[in-house]
Amino acid sequence: MNAPTRPHTADATTVEEGLAIQEEQAKFDSEAATAVAMQNTLLTPRFYTTDFDELDAIDVSSLRETWDVLIDEMVSDPNKGHFRKNEDWDKVDWDGMDPELKKEFIDFLISSCTAEFSGCVLYKEMKRRGANKDITQLFQLMARDEARHAGFINDALREVGVAVNLGFLTQKKKYTYFRPKFIYYATYLSEKIGYARYITIFRHLEAHPEHRFHPIFKWFQEWCNDEFRHGEAFALLMKTDPKLTKGGNEYWIKFFLTAVYGTMYVRDHQRPAFHEALGVDTDWYGQEVFRKTSEISKQIFPFTLDIDHPRWMKNLKRLEKASRDIDAAKKAGGIGGFFGKTWGGMRAAAAFVSLYTIPAIRHEVPEDPRLEPSY
Ligand SMILES: [Fe+2]
Ligand SMILES: [Fe+2]
Repeated sequence: MNAPTRPHTADATTVEEGLAIQEEQAKFDSEAATAVAMQNTLLTPRFYTTDFDELDAIDVSSLRETWDVLIDEMVSDPNKGHFRKNEDWDKVDWDGMDPELKKEFIDFLISSCTAEFSGCVLYKEMKRRGANKDITQLFQLMARDEARHAGFINDALREVGVAVNLGFLTQKKKYTYFRPKFIYYATYLSEKIGYARYITIFRHLEAHPEHRFHPIFKWFQEWCNDEFRHGEAFALLMKTDPKLTKGGNEYWIKFFLTAVYGTMYVRDHQRPAFHEALGVDTDWYGQEVFRKTSEISKQIFPFTLDIDHPRWMKNLKRLEKASRDIDAAKKAGGIGGFFGKTWGGMRAAAAFVSLYTIPAIRHEVPEDPRLEPSY
């Protein structure tokens, strides 16, 4: 006899359904993980809000054909049912895992879950507030995907007795306001860099399965295709208004590129045991992900960052060191801690300016932005 099947987030066809299932599970979720997800620092995933009326006013009719192809693909829902544990989910030896790796990996899962859910909350809110059918439909579809992604990571976390209480986060986590154009740049980049990160790990583990210390990595290929599609949608949204990627806005685009790449670099270096277990050199991984993201972003941005410039890696390292010193100073506290923090902040700012002022590499932007995942 089959056990009664409980509803699962993998099968949810709307964001509302996906969240209701998670709400039901929330009574088992742990305070510690939720506390980590509640943190708001420069490096931790944030929740965003924006001017939803301005977003709702976007007219996609100039891109109708391309738009409909993308939406049809998302409506066909290629990943329905995918994000659930099945026979490919090998037993995880949590107790045998090196404690440092376990700590970093759980931190990785919590921060990934928070980032997925941050997208979910923003997209769902847009869908709720909007009246424009194209926009609300797109945001409903993206929110559906992100709710599944967050739900799946929480499944993995529950095995170690921790999970993030998403309902609590929605109500209590601070929301940062971003103008719509900043949402486009930041969200476009985070979807595309998410794709590049997941596919790089997936391909690496395909070649070196002995490093796959957790089954969740087997799900990364389909996962990153969702993120790729989300990124495509933001590329199309930006394409509706050529001003968004021209003139003074180029300074903003460069700012977001530098900030997103820099944050990823610093954050990944906080997890040495995690990358060692994956058999991945963190510098190599960073550059690989930046290269893929830059190549993809040529679909919409008129330049890419020069990540082979002699100042690039040097200043990423300076930024990372400054960030570590700031953390240490915060822990130390007192007057020494205060000066340590200030000094670290100044060095981090100097490194960022040095990265930001590296001349960018210009190129032509294609008329039709659409791309297919190719890595
Ligand atoms: Fe996602
Ligand atoms: Fe996404």
